[in-house]
Amino acid sequence: MTKSEIKVLEEVLKHEQSLCVPYPSVRPTHTTHVLSWHPLLMHKITEMRKKDTDSSTFRKLVEEVTTLICCEAMQHLELEEYVVETPICKTIGKRISGKKLVVVPILRAGLGMENAVKAVVPKSRTGIIGMYRDEKTLEPHVYFEKQPNGISEREIFILDPMLATGGSADAAIKLLKEKGCKKISFICIIAAPQGMDLLQKNHPDVELYIGCLDKGLNKDGYIVPGLGDAGDRIFGTK
Ligand code: PRP
Ligand code: URA
Repeated sequence: MTKSEIKVLEEVLKHEQSLCVPYPSVRPTHTTHVLSWHPLLMHKITEMRKKDTDSSTFRKLVEEVTTLICCEAMQHLELEEYVVETPICKTIGKRISGKKLVVVPILRAGLGMENAVKAVVPKSRTGIIGMYRDEKTLEPHVYFEKQPNGISEREIFILDPMLATGGSADAAIKLLKEKGCKKISFICIIAAPQGMDLLQKNHPDVELYIGCLDKGLNKDGYIVPGLGDAGDRIFGTK
């Protein structure tokens, strides 16, 4: 890299930093998995960030990134053996065992991730939490909620591409814990330190999977550098 290229990068970093509201640095705990070591994830998340990426490409990237994160988040699922027949011979195959897991997208933006999980775990059930955050106060508001039967006995994967202040994720996790859910993972594509910090403090029992941990939040509560409003980009509403 040339000196002038390094200077450009330094300027970009300085500008990003200047947009962030001050916040102490936060480290991931042992239940937080930041997956930015993964080259495919980083490549695709960068494509998502670009402001000129159109809505249909953005939706496709959301699904691809979710599939990659799921590979990490679902490594521990239990398997059982059973006999299948290949064109050559019988063999012992494996299938996911135990009670069907539940994916819980937080509306709207989490809906963009649901198909990707259904594609890899077709027998999973879906719960829904409809929530928006007030643009001024940044407080979350639940407007709809419906969970599958027997949710307290099942493993839960909450989906939301963005973890900003953490208010929405915190409220969603509390809602599911009040219903008796014990084994919960939260999957997001981009997180701010503030959101990661809040979940680590309030829910040390929840596994947190983060595609990329960004610099911070701007004064309007948007993640910096982030990708803007995920819901609007998925549904083309702006
Ligand atoms: C976004 C995002 C999260 C929330 C994160 O949803 O999808 O749910 O903001 O912010 P927080 O961590 O500060 O709570 P939004 O409220 O924009 O609703 P939408 O998905 O309907 O666009
Ligand atoms: N919600 C989004 O969609 N984007 C952000 O940057 C923060 C919250």
